[in-house]
Amino acid sequence: MQNDFSHLFDLSGKVALVTGGAGIQGKRITQGLATYGADIAIIDLNAEVVEKQAISLAKTFGINALGIECDVSDKDAVSTMVETVVEKLGKIDVLHNNAASKSENPSNFFVPFEEFDFDVWRQVMSVNIDGMFLVAQKVGKQMLVQGHGGSIIQTSSTYGLVGPDFRIYEGSEYMGSKITTPAAYAASKGAVLQLTRYLASYWGSEGIRVNTLVPGGISSGQNKVFVKSYSERVPLGRMANVDEMVGAVVFLASDASSYMTGQMLVVDGGWTAW
Ligand SMILES: NC(=O)c1ccc[n+]([C@@H]2O[C@H](COP(=O)([O-])OP(=O)(O)OC[C@H]3O[C@@H](n4cnc5c(N)ncnc54)[C@H](O)[C@@H]3O)[C@@H](O)[C@H]2O)c1
Repeated sequence: MQNDFSHLFDLSGKVALVTGGAGIQGKRITQGLATYGADIAIIDLNAEVVEKQAISLAKTFGINALGIECDVSDKDAVSTMVETVVEKLGKIDVLHNNAASKSENPSNFFVPFEEFDFDVWRQVMSVNIDGMFLVAQKVGKQMLVQGHGGSIIQTSSTYGLVGPDFRIYEGSEYMGSKITTPAAYAASKGAVLQLTRYLASYWGSEGIRVNTLVPGGISSGQNKVFVKSYSERVPLGRMANVDEMVGAVVFLASDASSYMTGQMLVVDGGWTAW
């Protein structure tokens, strides 16, 4: 019987791949996983950014890190990217399927449902759910070859779980434009939950665990009106700090969650509790 739990969150000797690893959350999550000893592959759209980030991560945490430019909606690019990670870091034990798109042009994203362009819908879906499928498929195959299981974490959103409260968007702005939650985002994030449950059932007997992280709204430069309206709607009375997703990801990546699969870890300050 185990009586020392100090290694429950230990990730040393593991390799973690994080898509969207250069984003607001991705940056902090790669640091969190590296803190617990994992080698890290940072995947995002800009080669220079991810390569710099990898150098800094390796230096700060004394781990191996790799930055690879890859569009997760491109099947061939995903295939090459995963092969490169395995070639350079040896294996993949943890996948955080975290990348998501607000469309190539945000002014096409924050528009009313009636005006939402079908091409933008498809572009959002191509990253948020098709990309998740492509990366999970390729990494899952690799985990099966390795034969010792793994942990896959997929990021959804409270808007994948419940409908938006449109009242919070009155007078709200982000990066200089009016904001809302488009149906493409909500529908793609709902699909993430079901892809997780499917893969958890499918790969359970192989020891590959698949869970969903469900973040609430993270404070990242939204205007005062939005922050106030959002905060009033949350039991904890505030938006999330970006660092508050890190613990949940380390938990899901590590043996601390060894008997958990197919589930959602909702980190939303209580938004969906009432
Ligand atoms: N920020 C929030 O309030 C919030 C709330 C709930 C859920 N989420 C989810 O959390 C995850 C992380 O988002 P974030 O908050 O860090 O936002 P973010 O926009 O900073 O990060 C997303 C990252 O994905 C990358 N990306 C976009 N398209 C890509 C593609 N085709 N291939 C590879 N990378 C691509 C972007 O370059 C970016 O670095 C996303 O899945 C998002 O939907 C965010």
